[in-house]
Order: sequence, then structure tokens, then C-alpha cells
Amino acid sequence: MAQQRCRSVLITGCSRGIGLGLVRGLADASPAPDWVIATCRYPEKALELQQLSKQHSHIKLLQLESTSLLVFPFLPVADVVCENSIKKVVKEVEEILGDKGLNCLINNAGINVVASLEEVTAETMLTIYETNTVAQLMVTKAFLPLLRKAAQLSTGMGCHRAAIINMSSLAASMQLVTANEMFLKVYPYRIAKTALNMITRCLAADLKVDGILCISLHPGWIQTDMGGDMAPLQIQEAIPGILSVLANLSEKDNGSFLDGQGGTLPW
Ligand SMILES: NC(=O)c1ccc[n+]([C@@H]2O[C@H](COP(=O)([O-])OP(=O)(O)OC[C@H]3O[C@@H](n4cnc5c(N)ncnc54)[C@H](OP(=O)(O)O)[C@@H]3O)[C@@H](O)[C@H]2O)c1
Repeated sequence: MAQQRCRSVLITGCSRGIGLGLVRGLADASPAPDWVIATCRYPEKALELQQLSKQHSHIKLLQLESTSLLVFPFLPVADVVCENSIKKVVKEVEEILGDKGLNCLINNAGINVVASLEEVTAETMLTIYETNTVAQLMVTKAFLPLLRKAAQLSTGMGCHRAAIINMSSLAASMQLVTANEMFLKVYPYRIAKTALNMITRCLAADLKVDGILCISLHPGWIQTDMGGDMAPLQIQEAIPGILSVLANLSEKDNGSFLDGQGGTLPW
């Protein structure tokens, strides 16, 4: 059966890593969405993203403005939580998409910091929670009117209609806590991602009536600044699988925790 097309997708955290990889993958996708809206904190520094948006007229680069507030010298507070910045971006996106609304929101931006039980502090917990959990909920809330608009124009469930993709992690699985000792060094990250998974479950239940699907996605262990050099997958190897999973989402996937190959992960 021919897949219905996703006309518009917005991805956060596109300056590098998986976000940039997704934009690159969607630049060459066939059929390509009408619009790929890629957000990042510092567009002036995101040279590859700039290049992509110059080469492809359907890729639009927008800024989520940064805040000057710093919790630590080495950990910037989540600028995606900045309400004015989110409002500004929503308005810009609305101007681009017009009355068609937004089909797919990918909450990709995220941060990690190594913090074992001995190292973890309240400040680190709160900063990571704000960046990896609160921001995703606030961004989603702000884009809901545009997602609802898109949902009204189609039927079924999936990225062709309206979908929220929360970039989660295997490290968030409560059932797999003992499966990987490496994750014991990332208390704030895994706890924030587990909370993000709860957001997924709540949104999936809450927005079903609107025809908006929501999933958590573990993209795979991928070589990025966050994933590190030991990761088995390079970005370009992982992206086709992720895009295929997204393209094939349907009602049965609503509220699920999937990996980059479409497999189901335990919560
Ligand atoms: N790589 C993996 O193996 C792996 C595995 C599981 C899950 N994930 C998840 O996949 C997502 C992308 O990860 P990645 O590997 O691509 O990481 P990455 O290479 O470190 O890139 C992270 C992206 O998020 C943005 N970002 C970070 N903090 C931000 C903030 N406070 N406000 C706005 N944007 C912020 C960064 O922007 P700047 O350039 O401005 O810092 C960057 O574009 C994350 O949610 C991560 O948890 C990754």
C-alpha cells in the first residue's frame, strides 16, 4: 500500500549529530516532505546545516534563541525551555506552513553528562531534567495547535497526519536497568529520559482523540558527540532505519517505545 506523505517535519537540535543526520536524510528522501524545519541554538555556528538549507529549498533553518543564564560554566541551561523563544519559533513555523499545520515534531535535542551515584548533584539532575524532559513537553505543548490543525486534514495515525517523536534512549528502560553497566554512570540522563517516556505515554493517551500519535524512540547507539567513538553505528548507517520506522508508524504504535529498526523496547 502506498504510504501517505508527511508534508512537514520539525526537528530540534539539528546543529550536529542525529538531528543533522535526519535533516540530511530528509534532504534526499523520495518523496521528500514539503518542509523540513530544522531548529538549533546557534545557526551562525551550524555550518553544515546552513549549507543544507542553502542547497535545498524545502529545508528551513530556524533558531531557538539561547538564554544568557548559566547553571554551571560547563552546562548551559536549556534554551529550548525559554518560552519566548518557543513562541517565536511557533509563529515562524505557522507562517511557513500556513493552514496545513505540522505533521511531525521530533523532539531530538538532548544533553548528557557523566554522573555516577557518587558524582551526581541536585544541580546536574535539574539541568538535565530541564533540557531532556521539561523542554520537550513545553515545545510539544506550544506546537499542539499546529499538530491539531494537520490532524484535522487527514485520517488514520502516523507521520502523514500528526505525530510527536520523543528521542529517548535504551538507558531509560526500567526493565533493562541491570542490562548495561555503562548506564550506571549517567543517573541524570537516564532518569530524565524515563520521565520523557512517561510524557510519551501521557501524550499518546491524551491526544489519541485528536488523531495525534506519540512514541518514544531509541535511535540506536550512534557515533555522535554524545554517543562517542565506541558506538557501533555511524550516523549515515542509522538514519535510513530511523526514517523508515517513522514513515511506517501507524495506530498500533501509538504510545510505544521503539528502537531504530522498529523493534519494541520494554518500558
Ligand atoms: N547518539 C546516541 O547513541 C544516542 C542514543 C540514544 C539516544 N540518543 C538521543 O538522541 C538525541 C540526539 O543525540 P545526539 O547523539 O545527536 O547528540 P549530540 O551529537 O550531542 O547532539 C545534541 C544536539 O542537541 C542540541 N542541544 C543540546 N543541548 C541543548 C539545549 N540545551 N537546547 C537546545 N538544543 C540542545 C545540540 O545543540 P548544540 O550544538 O547547540 O549544543 C545538538 O544539536 C538526544 O536526545 C539523545 O539523548 C542518542
